Amino acid sequence: MHNDLANTIRSKIDIVDIIGERIPLVAKGKNFFCVCPFHDDSNPSMSISREKQIYTCFSCHATGNVYTFLMNYEHLEFREVLKYLGNKVGIDVGDIHVSKKNNKFDKLYEAYNLSLKYFQNNLNSNLGKQAKEYLLERKIDENLIKEFEIGLALDKRDDLTKILTKKSFDLSTLNKIGLSTDNYDVYCDRIMFPLYDISGKVVGFSGRIYKNNNLNKYLNTKETEIFKKGELLYHYHIAKEECRKKKSVIIMEGFMDIIRASSIDIRNTIALMGTALTKEQINLIKRLSNNIILCLDGDDPGQLATLNIGDALFKVGIEVKVIVLPNLDDPDSFILKYGKERFDGLIDSAINFSDYKMQRLRENVDFRSDEEKANYINKVLEETAKLSDPIRREVVLKRLAKEFDIGYNTLEIRINSFIKDDKKQEKIFIPQKILEKKDKYSKAIEQIIYLMLNNDWIITQVEKEKLIFPTEIMRTLTSEIIYYYKKYGNINVADFYTYIQDKENILKFLNQVLASNYNETTNKEELFLYFKVIREFSINQEIKRLTGLMKKEVDPLEQAKIAEKIRKLRLGDN
Ligand code: UTP
Ligand code: MN
Repeated sequence: MHNDLANTIRSKIDIVDIIGERIPLVAKGKNFFCVCPFHDDSNPSMSISREKQIYTCFSCHATGNVYTFLMNYEHLEFREVLKYLGNKVGIDVGDIHVSKKNNKFDKLYEAYNLSLKYFQNNLNSNLGKQAKEYLLERKIDENLIKEFEIGLALDKRDDLTKILTKKSFDLSTLNKIGLSTDNYDVYCDRIMFPLYDISGKVVGFSGRIYKNNNLNKYLNTKETEIFKKGELLYHYHIAKEECRKKKSVIIMEGFMDIIRASSIDIRNTIALMGTALTKEQINLIKRLSNNIILCLDGDDPGQLATLNIGDALFKVGIEVKVIVLPNLDDPDSFILKYGKERFDGLIDSAINFSDYKMQRLRENVDFRSDEEKANYINKVLEETAKLSDPIRREVVLKRLAKEFDIGYNTLEIRINSFIKDDKKQEKIFIPQKILEKKDKYSKAIEQIIYLMLNNDWIITQVEKEKLIFPTEIMRTLTSEIIYYYKKYGNINVADFYTYIQDKENILKFLNQVLASNYNETTNKEELFLYFKVIREFSINQEIKRLTGLMKKEVDPLEQAKIAEKIRKLRLGDN
């Protein structure tokens, strides 16, 4: 039974350490707080309890134990988290099987996987000779072809469509997922690079031309429910592990750059694939490492993108490092020309984003013109004001004062006018509003469930009272709690979480309960008050139901019977 194994492993792990290794924590009272990684936020609205070994976000209600945290944060499956944590505490998890849930997109993944195999086959066949030559010419050797699962779409127009329809995929599906258009293949005569989602599943392709023709260089699969360009980053699934080892992540523009970097054993890399950075992608990148290195193409668009991405990340509190390549190079061509050592050298000498910005500000300034000079100094001060470290600000001021022979005080006054006085104070989010919104019945019900999760005796009490909760979800959750208690002899929220993690319907309700500010303990007197509120609610519901029935009833005798029932309920005599 892997629940027991999971509980044993969990008992040897402190959730505070696991989250703390990934996100900065602040201690407040007996809990820890951090910025919740599961929704867009800059306030520390997630609390982590060392005592209970769970986390709770007051804002988005993300809640769970160390397993759910790692599953959601690192996009792992339960089995993988179990292995990872087992490894950490020296417990061999072996080859446990956890049944995989059926996914409604399984059919889509299957189509892409079959296509992948088909493309790979083509490249190795006789018909793939020219494409192979092209790849080898570009120094993409057999190892890289295997590693990146590169394939070939043939010049045959309907090969893949035929194969897939024979395998019971209908044409409309193939059209919808970007593999066919009408009866024909979307991809013809292109070298095929699979695109992966963040967990490593193939969710699309990018096909590159390899002969001299005037078609678009790359053709990408259209967006589908499982392939949203703005929500994934190329190579993310590999980078997850590598970034932890290398303690940094390198962002590049294209997947060719990633492939090349891999050939010199640099795999803590992700690529943007020709899009502007979205919020979702920023959140994904933040999870990889807080040491982010931008290594975009050396040309003007690349440098412009460096400024934009650097600024976007700066806004969420991250100062990236920047590698500037020669104007005509991208990482791919640079590595090919100069080799691993020089590229490693570039990584080591990456500069801070604000220094990069300063350098850029200097470009094309005519320092003989007083006006341009003043303009430049003002811009530098404006940028410097954004730095949160006062020492770094002072370093810049001193340098400016010296270089341009301007009084330090003058610069300081000017920079202070740029520094916003509302430099964000870290505030802990207090979830008052959530409580206020609920009526007294829901509050009483949730309060009781919360108490059950924290006190064995209340579970017994609820059972004894034969308390009936008004909705199916509430009833299921309480009976699961009771079942769990009987089985394990006590209740532990963190372990209960492992037990319940597949039951999506009640999980959401459980999260809602845990994310509100309920009392953890109570006495009998108070408990009975809650019980009373709930009974009252059930009775009122029943009265409402009967009243409805009575109105519809045509037989006066039956009507009288119902009226009598209602009367008894009102009197509390049922
Ligand atoms: P690049 O034009 O920099 O590609 O586009 P590259 O990596 O240097 O490729 P090679 O060396 O010419 O083969 C960067 C990324 O932009 C997207 C691709 O994802 C590519 O990896 N892109 C580019 C497209 O989607 N379509 C295009 O036509 C061009
Ligand atoms: Mn290139």
